[in-house]
Amino acid sequence: MCGIVAYVGPRKAQPILLEALSRLEYRGYDSAGLAILNGQGVEVRKKGGRIENLAKACLAKPILGESGISHTRWATHGAPTDANAHPHLDASGKLALVHNGVIENFLELKQKLTQAGHKFQSETDTEVLAHCLGEAYAKGKAKGEARLLEAVRSTLAQIQGTLGIAVIHSDLPGLIVGARRGSPLVIGVGQGENFLASDTQALAPYTNRVVILQDQEMVALHADRFDVSSPLGAQTQIKVEQIENGVTHSDKGPHAHFMLKEIMEQPRSIENAFRGRLDRDGATAKLGGLNMSSDQLRQVERISVIGCGTALHSGMVGKYLIESLAKIPVETQHASEFRYGDSPISPKTLFLAVSQSGETADTLGALREAKRRGYPCLGICNNVASSIARDSDGGVYMHAGPEIGVAATKSFTSQVMVFTLLGLLLGRLHQLSAAHGTEVLEAIAQLPGKIEQALRHSESIAKVAQKFSQSRSMLFLGRLANFPIALEGALKMKEITYLHAEGYPSAELKHGVIALIDKGTPTVLIATADGVYDKNLGSLQEIKARGGSVIAVGHEGDMKLKGLADALLEVPKTHELLQPILNVIPLQLFSYHTAVALGRDVDKPRNLAKSVTVE
Ligand code: AGP
Repeated sequence: MCGIVAYVGPRKAQPILLEALSRLEYRGYDSAGLAILNGQGVEVRKKGGRIENLAKACLAKPILGESGISHTRWATHGAPTDANAHPHLDASGKLALVHNGVIENFLELKQKLTQAGHKFQSETDTEVLAHCLGEAYAKGKAKGEARLLEAVRSTLAQIQGTLGIAVIHSDLPGLIVGARRGSPLVIGVGQGENFLASDTQALAPYTNRVVILQDQEMVALHADRFDVSSPLGAQTQIKVEQIENGVTHSDKGPHAHFMLKEIMEQPRSIENAFRGRLDRDGATAKLGGLNMSSDQLRQVERISVIGCGTALHSGMVGKYLIESLAKIPVETQHASEFRYGDSPISPKTLFLAVSQSGETADTLGALREAKRRGYPCLGICNNVASSIARDSDGGVYMHAGPEIGVAATKSFTSQVMVFTLLGLLLGRLHQLSAAHGTEVLEAIAQLPGKIEQALRHSESIAKVAQKFSQSRSMLFLGRLANFPIALEGALKMKEITYLHAEGYPSAELKHGVIALIDKGTPTVLIATADGVYDKNLGSLQEIKARGGSVIAVGHEGDMKLKGLADALLEVPKTHELLQPILNVIPLQLFSYHTAVALGRDVDKPRNLAKSVTVE
């Protein structure tokens, strides 16, 4: 949440900061700002709203200077106004700070500073931190760079909460100090210039050589060198890594939005999730990064999946897959609930932390809590350089490629694919027959073609979306593994269209939900032909009997369903265990086309950010 970029080098900082910052807009986009050392002091521009507002202000009055810091914000403390946008200055106006995270004890600190005569321009916790840093710097005994480093070190010792920060001071041109606790920071290593950013995405146009700062580390960044130190000031070993980067804003290709591009990419992203992992001879899956032997895997008696939002929904489908294939009981928990709860955990439980970004604060916190309690934890992540991937004992990368749209789409189907592979592997270590394993493997291999087929219905789904876009509210129903698909369909609808939408197990309809049915509240019912098809038709009849409309997700050519429902979103047929992966696709398209019909900002819906790196 929130994106930070800093630059120091021989070039003008302003255009670099603006370009790099725009690549982090998915982390938050309610206000943005930058501060550059202009030779006389710190000059700041900041604006509420999107980065383009900031860019206009900077173009109208450019800041000249070769080192600076910048920030795109997702508001935690204070509304998204110009005043609350980062950077924030200290009381002297010589120190500027950008911050990602939350300062939990900021009210106490603010009170002390106010009593000492400090005046604040914003409602943010970050400005309090800037003033604390300025105070510590003013009282510092050391000289030059060491004084700022010491000020950061001593201030952080008083701070509770998470942070990733970048600081400049007008006494110290050519120096940027960065520090992290909880929130990620990456050094981009250039030639005669260096960068600091919240993630590697920002650095793609400039360098592919990075150093991932470890938790609690600090960096003193100059154009020609950088020194990384521990909280106690000791120099730390650094590892420069080469990363693959590349998405640019023009990479939307022919698509109007990243979300649509990412939906359309799913035949390839699914293939990338299973490529090289199908073992036809053994009728099983090969997952190299688990760091667990077959014997260790056989000893797992329970699995606990932790994640948030869409990632958790994938885990709920995963529960069904693993329980069906491997007969190992699986529980799924909101990461935020698990980390502060005290429910008992059975011995021999394996934790799976699922996260596209690998940076979600609640999932990372839950993973660390599970590890603290002594349980093995595997990560299922997309972002290879992420904190969750690093903190896990092992795991599986989904290889979905960068996902820019705030609404997760291809990462969801890739996560479900990873769960399928895990289910297959665990199943074959237990009782799953080779014949059954082979059936699933064959269906997996055919899935990219089936997804392509499902995507061909996009235009007809757009017509249905147009027709129902004025609804007041929508219900999404599904049974068994299609219940989490209903939850996912409702989440997509809520986040990008702002329509009220709820997902339920179909049979829950009679237990209260049915009271919501009326002309303005259509129901999306997942009713592909499976063991509960007739039950789903029963739910459909109940809705119709009460004057509600039904948009059914059903198999291509299901004339019975077509005849009963008001609209049919068609999907091809696959193995029953894989059907949820196909069933979510029309729901992704349905919410996308509804959002377009309503004129919403699909890739950057209000109030949201792609990576939720605060609690
Ligand atoms: C999904 O569309 C949402 N943007 C959100 O629920 C997301 O899945 C959740 O915040 C978890 O993110 P993660 O996968 O990066 O951990």
